[in-house]
Amino acid sequence: MTGAAELCYFAAAPLFILALRWMSSPETARRAVFSAVVAMGLAIGGTLLQPTIHTFTWIGIAVLAGFLVGVPLSRVPLTAVPERTGLSQAFGGLAVALVGIAKYYLWLQEGVLTPFKMGVIGGEVILGCLTCTGGLLAAAKLAEMIPTRPITYRGQNIVSFALLAIALALAGLLIYNPFMSWAFPIIIAIGLIFGVMLILPIGGADMPTVISFLNSYAGLSAVALGFVLENKLLIVAGALDGSSGFVLSIIMCKAMNRSVTNVLFGAFGSVQAAKALGEKKTAKSATSADAAQILAAAGTVVIVPGYGMAVAQAQHRVRDLYELLSKKGVDVKFAVHPVAGRMPGHMNVLLAEAEIPYDRLVEMDDINPEMPQVDVCLVIGANDVVNPAARSDSTSPIFGMPIIDADKAHTVMAIKRSMNPGFAGIDNELYYANNTLMLFGDAKAVISDVVKELSGENAS
Ligand code: TAP
Repeated sequence: MTGAAELCYFAAAPLFILALRWMSSPETARRAVFSAVVAMGLAIGGTLLQPTIHTFTWIGIAVLAGFLVGVPLSRVPLTAVPERTGLSQAFGGLAVALVGIAKYYLWLQEGVLTPFKMGVIGGEVILGCLTCTGGLLAAAKLAEMIPTRPITYRGQNIVSFALLAIALALAGLLIYNPFMSWAFPIIIAIGLIFGVMLILPIGGADMPTVISFLNSYAGLSAVALGFVLENKLLIVAGALDGSSGFVLSIIMCKAMNRSVTNVLFGAFGSVQAAKALGEKKTAKSATSADAAQILAAAGTVVIVPGYGMAVAQAQHRVRDLYELLSKKGVDVKFAVHPVAGRMPGHMNVLLAEAEIPYDRLVEMDDINPEMPQVDVCLVIGANDVVNPAARSDSTSPIFGMPIIDADKAHTVMAIKRSMNPGFAGIDNELYYANNTLMLFGDAKAVISDVVKELSGENAS
Protein backbone atom coordinates (compact mmCIF):
# COMPACT_ATOMS: atom_id res chain seq x y z
CA MET A 1 0.00 0.00 0.00
CA THR A 2 1.28 3.50 -0.78
CA GLY A 3 2.05 5.99 1.99
CA ALA A 4 -0.74 8.29 0.79
CA ALA A 5 -3.28 5.46 0.91
CA GLU A 6 -2.11 4.51 4.44
CA LEU A 7 -2.51 8.14 5.49
CA CYS A 8 -6.07 8.32 4.09
CA TYR A 9 -7.03 5.15 5.99
CA PHE A 10 -5.31 6.39 9.13
CA ALA A 11 -7.34 9.64 9.05
CA ALA A 12 -10.62 7.93 8.12
CA ALA A 13 -10.76 5.45 11.03
CA PRO A 14 -11.04 8.02 13.89
CA LEU A 15 -13.47 10.09 11.80
CA PHE A 16 -15.80 7.06 11.56
CA ILE A 17 -15.58 6.64 15.35
CA LEU A 18 -16.26 10.34 15.97
CA ALA A 19 -19.21 10.22 13.55
CA LEU A 20 -20.82 7.50 15.66
CA ARG A 21 -20.12 9.43 18.85
CA TRP A 22 -21.62 12.67 17.48
CA MET A 23 -24.65 10.87 16.09
CA SER A 24 -25.89 10.29 19.63
CA SER A 25 -27.17 13.86 20.09
CA PRO A 26 -29.36 16.05 17.83
CA GLU A 27 -27.02 19.01 18.48
CA THR A 28 -23.99 17.20 17.03
CA ALA A 29 -25.77 15.01 14.45
CA ARG A 30 -24.95 17.30 11.48
CA ARG A 31 -21.27 17.23 12.42
CA ALA A 32 -21.54 13.43 12.59
CA VAL A 33 -22.87 13.18 9.05
CA PHE A 34 -20.15 15.53 7.76
CA SER A 35 -17.45 13.53 9.54
CA ALA A 36 -18.80 10.23 8.16
CA VAL A 37 -18.91 11.65 4.61
CA VAL A 38 -15.30 12.88 4.87
CA ALA A 39 -14.20 9.51 6.30
CA MET A 40 -15.92 7.64 3.48
CA GLY A 41 -14.36 10.01 0.93
CA LEU A 42 -10.91 9.32 2.40
CA ALA A 43 -11.60 5.57 2.41
CA ILE A 44 -12.59 5.59 -1.26
CA GLY A 45 -9.71 7.93 -2.17
CA GLY A 46 -7.21 5.74 -0.29
CA THR A 47 -8.50 2.63 -2.06
CA LEU A 48 -8.20 4.26 -5.49
CA LEU A 49 -4.56 5.05 -4.68
CA GLN A 50 -3.76 1.35 -4.22
CA PRO A 51 -1.05 0.28 -6.69
CA THR A 52 -2.99 -2.95 -7.38
CA ILE A 53 -5.62 -0.93 -9.26
CA HIS A 54 -4.54 -0.59 -12.88
CA THR A 55 -7.74 0.39 -14.68
CA PHE A 56 -10.56 2.64 -13.57
CA THR A 57 -13.11 1.79 -16.29
CA TRP A 58 -15.08 -0.79 -14.30
CA ILE A 59 -14.84 1.29 -11.14
CA GLY A 60 -16.27 4.26 -13.09
CA ILE A 61 -19.15 2.12 -14.40
CA ALA A 62 -19.89 0.85 -10.88
CA VAL A 63 -19.84 4.41 -9.48
CA LEU A 64 -22.25 5.54 -12.22
CA ALA A 65 -24.58 2.60 -11.55
CA GLY A 66 -24.42 3.42 -7.84
CA PHE A 67 -25.43 7.02 -8.54
CA LEU A 68 -28.30 5.94 -10.80
CA VAL A 69 -29.74 3.73 -8.05
CA GLY A 70 -28.66 5.84 -5.07
CA VAL A 71 -29.96 9.28 -6.06
CA PRO A 72 -33.65 8.23 -6.42
CA LEU A 73 -33.28 6.12 -3.26
CA SER A 74 -32.11 9.18 -1.31
CA ARG A 75 -35.24 11.10 -2.27
CA VAL A 76 -37.76 8.93 -0.44
CA PRO A 77 -39.88 10.66 2.23
CA LEU A 78 -38.75 10.38 5.86
CA THR A 79 -41.58 7.92 6.57
CA ALA A 80 -40.04 5.48 4.06
CA VAL A 81 -36.51 5.59 5.51
CA PRO A 82 -36.72 2.20 7.30
CA GLU A 83 -37.57 0.32 4.08
CA ARG A 84 -34.90 2.32 2.26
CA THR A 85 -32.43 1.23 4.95
CA GLY A 86 -33.53 -2.37 4.41
CA LEU A 87 -32.83 -1.97 0.68
CA SER A 88 -29.40 -0.43 1.33
CA GLN A 89 -28.53 -3.36 3.57
CA ALA A 90 -29.70 -5.76 0.86
CA PHE A 91 -27.43 -4.07 -1.71
CA GLY A 92 -24.52 -4.04 0.77
CA GLY A 93 -25.02 -7.74 1.48
CA LEU A 94 -25.21 -8.50 -2.24
CA ALA A 95 -21.97 -6.60 -2.93
CA VAL A 96 -20.15 -8.43 -0.14
CA ALA A 97 -21.45 -11.81 -1.33
CA LEU A 98 -20.48 -11.09 -4.97
CA VAL A 99 -16.92 -10.13 -3.99
CA GLY A 100 -16.66 -13.34 -1.93
CA ILE A 101 -17.95 -15.45 -4.83
CA ALA A 102 -15.55 -13.81 -7.31
CA LYS A 103 -12.59 -14.25 -4.95
CA TYR A 104 -13.40 -17.95 -4.37
CA TYR A 105 -13.31 -18.82 -8.07
CA LEU A 106 -10.32 -16.54 -8.77
CA TRP A 107 -8.20 -17.88 -5.94
CA LEU A 108 -9.28 -21.44 -6.69
CA GLN A 109 -7.91 -21.01 -10.25
CA GLU A 110 -4.72 -19.39 -8.97
CA GLY A 111 -4.32 -22.14 -6.35
CA VAL A 112 -3.88 -19.66 -3.48
CA LEU A 113 -6.98 -20.57 -1.46
CA THR A 114 -5.56 -21.15 2.04
CA PRO A 115 -7.84 -22.61 4.78
CA PHE A 116 -7.96 -19.15 6.44
CA LYS A 117 -9.01 -17.43 3.18
CA MET A 118 -11.61 -20.13 2.52
CA GLY A 119 -13.00 -19.81 6.07
CA VAL A 120 -13.44 -16.04 5.76
CA ILE A 121 -14.96 -16.35 2.27
CA GLY A 122 -17.44 -18.93 3.63
CA GLY A 123 -18.49 -16.58 6.47
CA GLU A 124 -18.61 -13.60 4.14
CA VAL A 125 -20.79 -15.32 1.54
CA ILE A 126 -23.24 -16.74 4.10
CA LEU A 127 -23.58 -13.38 5.92
CA GLY A 128 -23.74 -11.39 2.65
CA CYS A 129 -26.42 -13.63 1.13
CA LEU A 130 -28.61 -13.71 4.23
CA THR A 131 -28.30 -9.93 4.64
CA CYS A 132 -29.29 -9.48 0.98
CA THR A 133 -32.53 -11.49 1.05
CA GLY A 134 -33.25 -10.53 4.69
CA GLY A 135 -32.93 -6.82 3.81
CA LEU A 136 -35.17 -7.21 0.75
CA LEU A 137 -37.85 -9.01 2.74
CA ALA A 138 -37.64 -6.54 5.64
CA ALA A 139 -38.06 -3.66 3.15
CA ALA A 140 -41.08 -5.38 1.59
CA LYS A 141 -42.64 -5.93 5.03
CA LEU A 142 -42.02 -2.35 6.13
CA ALA A 143 -43.49 -1.02 2.86
CA GLU A 144 -46.45 -3.37 3.53
CA MET A 145 -45.96 -4.96 0.10
CA ILE A 146 -46.25 -8.32 1.88
CA PRO A 147 -48.20 -9.08 5.08
CA THR A 148 -46.48 -7.60 8.15
CA ARG A 149 -47.86 -10.40 10.34
CA PRO A 150 -45.45 -13.17 11.33
CA ILE A 151 -45.53 -16.11 8.91
CA THR A 152 -44.84 -19.26 10.88
CA TYR A 153 -45.11 -23.02 10.69
CA ARG A 154 -44.39 -25.83 13.08
CA GLY A 155 -40.70 -26.55 13.61
CA GLN A 156 -39.65 -23.37 11.77
CA ASN A 157 -36.64 -22.63 13.94
CA ILE A 158 -35.41 -26.24 13.70
CA VAL A 159 -35.61 -26.14 9.88
CA SER A 160 -33.85 -22.74 9.74
CA PHE A 161 -31.03 -23.80 12.01
CA ALA A 162 -30.64 -27.18 10.34
CA LEU A 163 -30.13 -25.29 7.05
CA LEU A 164 -27.58 -22.97 8.64
CA ALA A 165 -25.76 -25.96 10.13
CA ILE A 166 -25.59 -27.57 6.64
CA ALA A 167 -24.12 -24.34 5.20
CA LEU A 168 -21.51 -24.17 7.97
CA ALA A 169 -20.65 -27.87 7.54
CA LEU A 170 -20.18 -27.35 3.78
CA ALA A 171 -17.99 -24.31 4.47
CA GLY A 172 -15.95 -26.55 6.83
CA LEU A 173 -15.65 -29.13 4.03
CA LEU A 174 -14.30 -26.45 1.67
CA ILE A 175 -11.79 -25.30 4.27
CA TYR A 176 -10.56 -28.88 4.36
CA ASN A 177 -10.59 -29.19 0.55
CA PRO A 178 -11.44 -26.03 -1.47
CA PHE A 179 -11.56 -28.05 -4.71
CA MET A 180 -14.92 -29.61 -3.75
CA SER A 181 -16.45 -26.69 -5.63
CA TRP A 182 -19.91 -28.33 -5.95
CA ALA A 183 -20.47 -27.29 -2.30
CA PHE A 184 -20.01 -23.58 -2.93
CA PRO A 185 -23.27 -22.87 -4.87
CA ILE A 186 -25.18 -24.80 -2.18
CA ILE A 187 -23.71 -22.49 0.49
CA ILE A 188 -24.85 -19.46 -1.56
CA ALA A 189 -28.37 -20.89 -2.00
CA ILE A 190 -28.68 -21.69 1.72
CA GLY A 191 -27.47 -18.19 2.67
CA LEU A 192 -30.16 -16.65 0.44
CA ILE A 193 -32.91 -18.95 1.76
CA PHE A 194 -31.82 -18.43 5.37
CA GLY A 195 -32.26 -14.63 5.02
CA VAL A 196 -35.89 -15.17 3.97
CA MET A 197 -36.53 -17.66 6.77
CA LEU A 198 -35.02 -15.29 9.32
CA ILE A 199 -37.45 -12.46 8.52
CA LEU A 200 -40.67 -14.39 7.73
CA PRO A 201 -41.57 -15.23 11.36
CA ILE A 202 -40.96 -11.68 12.61
CA GLY A 203 -44.02 -9.47 13.11
CA GLY A 204 -44.38 -5.86 11.98
CA ALA A 205 -43.95 -4.35 15.45
CA ASP A 206 -40.50 -5.91 15.75
CA MET A 207 -39.26 -4.81 12.33
CA PRO A 208 -37.35 -1.72 13.59
CA THR A 209 -35.20 -3.94 15.77
CA VAL A 210 -34.72 -6.41 12.94
CA ILE A 211 -33.47 -3.61 10.67
CA SER A 212 -30.77 -2.77 13.17
CA PHE A 213 -29.88 -6.47 13.51
CA LEU A 214 -29.49 -6.61 9.74
CA ASN A 215 -27.23 -3.60 10.04
CA SER A 216 -25.14 -5.61 12.43
CA TYR A 217 -24.96 -8.59 10.01
CA ALA A 218 -24.00 -6.23 7.17
CA GLY A 219 -21.18 -4.89 9.37
CA LEU A 220 -19.96 -8.39 10.21
CA SER A 221 -19.97 -9.39 6.55
CA ALA A 222 -17.95 -6.23 5.78
CA VAL A 223 -15.40 -7.34 8.41
CA ALA A 224 -15.10 -10.70 6.64
CA LEU A 225 -14.75 -8.84 3.33
CA GLY A 226 -11.99 -6.73 4.90
CA PHE A 227 -10.08 -9.92 5.75
CA VAL A 228 -10.60 -11.30 2.24
CA LEU A 229 -9.40 -8.09 0.58
CA GLU A 230 -6.77 -7.50 3.28
CA ASN A 231 -8.21 -4.03 3.78
CA LYS A 232 -7.71 -2.81 7.37
CA LEU A 233 -10.12 0.13 7.09
CA LEU A 234 -12.91 -2.15 5.90
CA ILE A 235 -12.31 -4.31 8.97
CA VAL A 236 -12.48 -1.22 11.24
CA ALA A 237 -15.56 0.28 9.53
CA GLY A 238 -17.32 -3.11 9.40
CA ALA A 239 -16.61 -3.74 13.09
CA LEU A 240 -17.99 -0.29 13.97
CA ASP A 241 -21.09 -0.90 11.85
CA GLY A 242 -21.59 -4.40 13.23
CA SER A 243 -21.14 -3.45 16.87
CA SER A 244 -23.15 -0.20 16.70
CA GLY A 245 -25.98 -2.07 14.92
CA PHE A 246 -25.89 -4.66 17.69
CA VAL A 247 -25.88 -2.05 20.48
CA LEU A 248 -28.79 -0.21 18.81
CA SER A 249 -30.70 -3.51 18.56
CA ILE A 250 -30.19 -4.13 22.29
CA ILE A 251 -31.33 -0.57 23.13
CA MET A 252 -34.43 -0.99 20.97
CA CYS A 253 -35.19 -4.40 22.47
CA LYS A 254 -35.04 -2.76 25.91
CA ALA A 255 -37.28 0.12 24.74
CA MET A 256 -39.82 -2.42 23.51
CA ASN A 257 -39.30 -4.77 26.46
CA ARG A 258 -38.32 -7.63 24.17
CA SER A 259 -35.56 -10.14 24.65
CA VAL A 260 -33.21 -10.49 21.69
CA THR A 261 -34.23 -14.11 21.11
CA ASN A 262 -37.91 -13.05 21.34
CA VAL A 263 -37.44 -10.57 18.52
CA LEU A 264 -35.52 -12.94 16.31
CA PHE A 265 -37.60 -16.06 16.79
CA GLY A 266 -40.73 -14.87 18.62
CA ALA A 267 -43.45 -14.71 15.91
CA PHE A 268 -45.25 -11.85 17.58
CA GLY A 269 -48.58 -10.57 16.36
CA SER A 270 -50.36 -13.81 15.50
CA VAL A 271 -53.12 -13.35 18.08
CA GLN A 272 -54.09 -9.85 17.07
CA ALA A 273 -56.70 -10.50 14.35
CA ALA A 274 -59.20 -12.12 16.69
CA LYS A 275 -58.74 -9.31 19.22
CA ALA A 276 -59.28 -6.61 16.63
CA LEU A 277 -62.63 -8.11 15.67
CA GLY A 278 -63.83 -8.05 19.29
CA GLU A 279 -67.00 -6.45 20.67
CA LYS A 280 -68.25 -3.15 19.23
CA LYS A 281 -67.40 -0.13 21.35
CA THR A 282 -68.03 3.53 20.73
CA ALA A 283 -65.64 6.43 20.93
CA LYS A 284 -66.61 10.05 21.70
CA SER A 285 -65.66 12.58 19.07
CA ALA A 286 -65.14 16.32 19.43
CA THR A 287 -64.75 19.30 17.09
CA SER A 288 -61.74 21.55 16.63
CA ALA A 289 -63.63 24.29 18.49
CA ASP A 290 -64.12 21.94 21.50
CA ALA A 291 -60.43 21.03 21.36
CA ALA A 292 -59.33 24.68 21.25
CA GLN A 293 -61.47 25.49 24.31
CA ILE A 294 -60.14 22.53 26.31
CA LEU A 295 -56.52 23.33 25.39
CA ALA A 296 -56.88 27.02 26.24
CA ALA A 297 -58.28 26.15 29.67
CA ALA A 298 -55.46 23.71 30.47
CA GLY A 299 -52.47 24.45 32.69
CA THR A 300 -50.31 21.61 31.35
CA VAL A 301 -50.47 19.94 27.94
CA VAL A 302 -48.38 16.97 26.82
CA ILE A 303 -48.27 16.36 23.08
CA VAL A 304 -47.52 12.77 21.98
CA PRO A 305 -46.51 12.74 18.31
CA GLY A 306 -46.53 9.54 16.25
CA TYR A 307 -46.35 8.19 12.75
CA GLY A 308 -49.55 10.04 11.69
CA MET A 309 -47.88 13.40 12.37
CA ALA A 310 -45.10 12.38 9.98
CA VAL A 311 -47.57 11.21 7.30
CA ALA A 312 -49.54 14.46 7.54
CA GLN A 313 -46.33 16.55 7.73
CA ALA A 314 -48.09 18.39 10.53
CA GLN A 315 -44.96 19.36 12.51
CA HIS A 316 -45.03 23.05 11.47
CA ARG A 317 -48.70 23.40 12.46
CA VAL A 318 -47.79 21.68 15.74
CA ARG A 319 -45.14 24.36 16.31
CA ASP A 320 -47.82 27.06 15.71
CA LEU A 321 -50.03 25.34 18.27
CA TYR A 322 -47.12 25.12 20.73
CA GLU A 323 -46.35 28.84 20.34
CA LEU A 324 -49.98 29.92 20.72
CA LEU A 325 -50.52 27.80 23.83
CA SER A 326 -47.21 28.89 25.36
CA LYS A 327 -48.19 32.54 24.82
CA LYS A 328 -51.40 31.84 26.68
CA GLY A 329 -49.33 30.57 29.62
CA VAL A 330 -49.93 26.85 29.06
CA ASP A 331 -46.98 24.59 29.91
CA VAL A 332 -46.54 22.47 26.75
CA LYS A 333 -44.20 19.46 26.57
CA PHE A 334 -43.61 16.82 23.91
CA ALA A 335 -43.42 13.18 24.99
CA VAL A 336 -41.21 11.22 22.61
CA HIS A 337 -41.40 7.43 22.51
CA PRO A 338 -38.21 5.68 21.29
CA VAL A 339 -40.05 3.77 18.53
CA ALA A 340 -42.70 6.36 17.59
CA GLY A 341 -42.88 6.77 13.81
CA ARG A 342 -40.91 4.49 11.57
CA MET A 343 -37.25 5.00 12.43
CA PRO A 344 -35.17 5.71 15.53
CA GLY A 345 -35.32 9.43 16.29
CA HIS A 346 -38.11 10.03 13.72
CA MET A 347 -40.09 12.36 15.99
CA ASN A 348 -36.95 14.20 17.18
CA VAL A 349 -36.03 14.95 13.56
CA LEU A 350 -39.50 16.28 12.69
CA LEU A 351 -39.83 18.39 15.84
CA ALA A 352 -36.30 19.77 15.34
CA GLU A 353 -37.18 20.60 11.71
CA ALA A 354 -40.15 22.61 13.02
CA GLU A 355 -37.76 24.37 15.43
CA ILE A 356 -39.46 23.23 18.60
CA PRO A 357 -36.91 23.81 21.40
CA TYR A 358 -35.04 20.63 22.45
CA ASP A 359 -35.72 21.31 26.11
CA ARG A 360 -39.47 20.85 25.47
CA LEU A 361 -38.87 17.25 24.33
CA VAL A 362 -39.16 14.76 27.17
CA GLU A 363 -38.30 11.07 27.00
CA MET A 364 -40.87 8.40 27.91
CA ASP A 365 -39.32 7.42 31.26
CA ASP A 366 -39.20 11.05 32.39
CA ILE A 367 -42.73 12.06 31.32
CA ASN A 368 -44.61 9.00 32.61
CA PRO A 369 -44.40 9.87 36.35
CA GLU A 370 -45.88 13.31 35.46
CA MET A 371 -48.81 12.01 33.40
CA PRO A 372 -51.38 11.70 36.23
CA GLN A 373 -50.98 15.46 36.91
CA VAL A 374 -51.26 16.48 33.23
CA ASP A 375 -54.45 18.33 32.25
CA VAL A 376 -54.53 17.41 28.56
CA CYS A 377 -52.63 14.81 26.59
CA LEU A 378 -52.87 15.54 22.86
CA VAL A 379 -52.05 12.42 20.85
CA ILE A 380 -51.18 13.34 17.26
CA GLY A 381 -51.18 10.32 14.94
CA ALA A 382 -49.69 8.02 17.58
CA ASN A 383 -51.32 4.69 18.29
CA ASP A 384 -49.21 1.68 19.35
CA VAL A 385 -46.94 3.82 21.55
CA VAL A 386 -49.92 4.92 23.70
CA ASN A 387 -51.83 1.62 23.67
CA PRO A 388 -52.62 0.63 27.31
CA ALA A 389 -52.93 -3.02 26.19
CA ALA A 390 -49.13 -3.10 26.36
CA ARG A 391 -49.48 -2.70 30.15
CA SER A 392 -52.65 -4.63 30.89
CA ASP A 393 -53.43 -7.29 28.28
CA SER A 394 -51.06 -10.25 28.51
CA THR A 395 -52.55 -11.71 25.28
CA SER A 396 -51.72 -8.58 23.28
CA PRO A 397 -48.85 -8.87 20.80
CA ILE A 398 -47.39 -5.66 22.21
CA PHE A 399 -47.73 -6.74 25.86
CA GLY A 400 -44.68 -5.63 27.83
CA MET A 401 -43.65 -2.85 25.44
CA PRO A 402 -43.19 0.33 27.51
CA ILE A 403 -45.69 3.01 26.44
CA ILE A 404 -46.33 6.68 27.15
CA ASP A 405 -49.09 6.69 29.80
CA ALA A 406 -51.37 9.04 27.83
CA ASP A 407 -54.46 7.42 29.40
CA LYS A 408 -53.44 8.68 32.85
CA ALA A 409 -53.88 12.37 31.89
CA HIS A 410 -57.11 14.08 33.04
CA THR A 411 -58.27 14.51 29.43
CA VAL A 412 -56.96 12.79 26.31
CA MET A 413 -57.54 14.11 22.80
CA ALA A 414 -56.46 11.87 19.93
CA ILE A 415 -56.12 13.06 16.35
CA LYS A 416 -56.38 10.39 13.64
CA ARG A 417 -58.42 9.86 10.49
CA SER A 418 -60.40 6.76 11.49
CA MET A 419 -60.54 4.00 14.07
CA ASN A 420 -58.03 1.97 12.06
CA PRO A 421 -55.22 0.33 14.00
CA GLY A 422 -51.57 1.40 13.95
CA PHE A 423 -48.49 -0.50 12.78
CA ALA A 424 -48.99 -3.51 15.09
CA GLY A 425 -52.50 -3.97 13.65
CA ILE A 426 -54.32 -4.00 17.00
CA ASP A 427 -57.24 -2.14 18.52
CA ASN A 428 -56.52 0.61 21.06
CA GLU A 429 -58.64 0.87 24.24
CA LEU A 430 -57.41 4.41 24.78
CA TYR A 431 -59.78 5.71 22.10
CA TYR A 432 -62.82 4.27 23.94
CA ALA A 433 -61.84 5.49 27.40
CA ASN A 434 -64.19 7.84 29.30
CA ASN A 435 -61.61 10.63 29.39
CA THR A 436 -60.77 10.41 25.66
CA LEU A 437 -62.12 12.60 22.88
CA MET A 438 -61.39 11.76 19.24
CA LEU A 439 -60.59 14.49 16.73
CA PHE A 440 -61.11 12.77 13.40
CA GLY A 441 -59.24 14.01 10.36
CA ASP A 442 -55.83 14.51 8.84
CA ALA A 443 -53.46 15.72 11.57
CA LYS A 444 -52.34 18.81 9.65
CA ALA A 445 -55.91 19.88 8.82
CA VAL A 446 -57.18 19.27 12.37
CA ILE A 447 -54.31 21.16 14.02
CA SER A 448 -54.66 24.03 11.53
CA ASP A 449 -58.32 24.30 12.53
CA VAL A 450 -57.49 24.18 16.24
CA VAL A 451 -54.86 26.90 15.71
CA LYS A 452 -57.41 29.06 13.86
CA GLU A 453 -59.92 28.58 16.68
CA LEU A 454 -57.32 29.44 19.31
CA SER A 455 -56.12 32.53 17.50
CA GLY A 456 -59.70 33.67 16.98
CA GLU A 457 -59.43 33.55 13.16
CA ASN A 458 -62.53 31.37 12.84
CA ALA A 459 -64.63 33.81 14.90
CA SER A 460 -63.93 36.73 12.56
P1 TAP B 1 -48.72 3.75 14.66
O1 TAP B 1 -49.01 2.80 15.76
O2 TAP B 1 -48.26 3.18 13.36
O3 TAP B 1 -50.05 4.60 14.43
C1 TAP B 1 -50.07 5.68 13.58
C2 TAP B 1 -51.48 6.23 13.54
O4 TAP B 1 -51.44 7.41 12.77
C3 TAP B 1 -52.46 5.29 12.87
O5 TAP B 1 -53.33 4.73 13.82
C4 TAP B 1 -53.19 6.16 11.84
O6 TAP B 1 -54.58 6.10 12.07
C5 TAP B 1 -52.68 7.57 12.15
N1 TAP B 1 -52.45 8.35 10.93
C6 TAP B 1 -51.88 7.97 9.78
N2 TAP B 1 -51.88 8.98 8.90
C7 TAP B 1 -52.47 10.03 9.53
C8 TAP B 1 -52.75 11.37 9.15
N3 TAP B 1 -52.46 11.84 7.92
N4 TAP B 1 -53.34 12.18 10.04
C9 TAP B 1 -53.67 11.71 11.28
N5 TAP B 1 -53.42 10.47 11.69
C10 TAP B 1 -52.83 9.63 10.82
O7 TAP B 1 -47.67 4.85 15.08
P2 TAP B 1 -46.85 5.05 16.43
O8 TAP B 1 -47.77 5.16 17.59
O9 TAP B 1 -45.91 6.16 16.13
O10 TAP B 1 -46.06 3.70 16.64
C11 TAP B 1 -45.01 3.31 15.81
C12 TAP B 1 -45.19 1.86 15.40
O11 TAP B 1 -44.35 1.62 14.28
C13 TAP B 1 -44.78 0.89 16.49
O12 TAP B 1 -45.55 -0.28 16.41
C14 TAP B 1 -43.33 0.58 16.12
O13 TAP B 1 -42.88 -0.65 16.61
C15 TAP B 1 -43.43 0.57 14.60
N6 TAP B 1 -42.18 0.88 13.91
C16 TAP B 1 -41.34 1.78 14.47
C17 TAP B 1 -40.15 2.06 13.85
C18 TAP B 1 -39.22 3.01 14.56
S1 TAP B 1 -37.68 2.63 14.73
N7 TAP B 1 -39.68 4.11 15.07
C19 TAP B 1 -39.84 1.49 12.60
C20 TAP B 1 -40.78 0.61 12.00
C21 TAP B 1 -41.95 0.31 12.69
P3 TAP B 1 -55.62 6.46 10.88
O14 TAP B 1 -55.26 5.57 9.75
O15 TAP B 1 -56.94 6.19 11.49
O16 TAP B 1 -55.43 7.91 10.57
